Amino acid sequence: MQRVSVLLGSQWGDEGKGKVVDWLVHQHQIDWVVRFQGGNNAGHTLVTPHGKLVLRLLPSGMLHPKARCLLGNGMVINPLALLEEIEQLEEWGIPLAGRLHLAANASLLISTHMDIDYARESSRNPIGTTRRGIGPAYEDKIARRALRVGDWLDKDLFDERLSSLLQYHRSVLSAFGVSMTSEAEIREKLWAVREKLLPLVVDGVSTLAQAKAKGERILFEGAQGTFLDVDQGTYPYVTSSNTSVAGVASGTGFPPGEVQAVFGLVKAYTTRVGEGPFPTEDHGESGRWLASQGNEFGSVTGRPRRCGWLDLPLIRRAHQLNHFEALCLTKLDVLDGLSEIPVCVAYENEDWRLGLSHMKPVYQKLPGWSESVSGATRFEALPEAAQAYVKFIEESLGVSIRWISTGAERDAMIER
Ligand code: IMP
Repeated sequence: MQRVSVLLGSQWGDEGKGKVVDWLVHQHQIDWVVRFQGGNNAGHTLVTPHGKLVLRLLPSGMLHPKARCLLGNGMVINPLALLEEIEQLEEWGIPLAGRLHLAANASLLISTHMDIDYARESSRNPIGTTRRGIGPAYEDKIARRALRVGDWLDKDLFDERLSSLLQYHRSVLSAFGVSMTSEAEIREKLWAVREKLLPLVVDGVSTLAQAKAKGERILFEGAQGTFLDVDQGTYPYVTSSNTSVAGVASGTGFPPGEVQAVFGLVKAYTTRVGEGPFPTEDHGESGRWLASQGNEFGSVTGRPRRCGWLDLPLIRRAHQLNHFEALCLTKLDVLDGLSEIPVCVAYENEDWRLGLSHMKPVYQKLPGWSESVSGATRFEALPEAAQAYVKFIEESLGVSIRWISTGAERDAMIER
């Protein structure tokens, strides 16, 4: 794996990033894991020796005592949620001192962002957001009224910015007939977490430049997936950040020309949370079977995920956008036991100007396998039909599949 790499979801998120990052950090001795967008709308699930853990803000590399992590400026950080995650890891005896850093120019997400998200979702055609306040927090960033992590360094400035932000939030909420929590209460909570989080604040740009100069290994960890990108995804049913590779540079200040490789995560079938077009969605019995077999329930929302078949034209588009060096195919074990597996190989009327809702999938049925691939660690140990499924994807996309995840456990992984 190249020294400076990016790992991204190529579908609508939930491709199993948490487990893969955790494995890569360990196997490839990654020094830095860096998040560049999103907030606690993400949910990266890890099965660890301590039990199951869902990380929302912290990068999955935090579990490895030697890896250091940076939450980049492109993120919207809910400090109360972050503190909860930090405390959970500390409870498990995972040391964080000197390993976790927050970019001073990352935006803060506060409780009123969640109130606005909730009010909007309840009152109009919903996007199906996670209701974590992500959209409103990014709106404030772009409108230049956000509070930033570095504002904690100057109490007067922080107080002033918080007051004017809350004044704006009060007016937004009152239009929905919602009254706001008292300003003093919000301020007190934010000021209380400051003590613990302030020592973590760094200049992200020089932190990464120094890491690069020392030859340290850096992995940028995407959250959500390519088609939730605010510019390139299924707008308006998207999240409010750039989830594709374009977000790495703007979300960290790391020069794009210094990124050496981008790796894509592809789930062996497709899922989506929330509203929006999904050409290969299976509304029938098979879709429900995939959901239960794949345990497809949102780790953040608790809602069942919509399920369907692998969509190759979608991944081809993700490759066009991100230029994948290689892919990691995840959750192959979920397809165990199917006699045949439909794969979308083309769209009847592919026209990206109109968007995905106008496209009709054309399927090819590939043979399934009855043996279990669960826990396999060698490609040759997979049933022939599973090997053929992998090779079919590679040949259709013209990109190699370097890793295959065959189960939730840390070691259920094939490296080719
Ligand atoms: P938001 O990011 O909470 O504003 O939600 C916008 C859209 O992105 C909704 O359809 C969410 O379901 C989806 N979304 C946000 N985060 C994730 C994720 O981690 N996995 C899958 N979908 C997500």
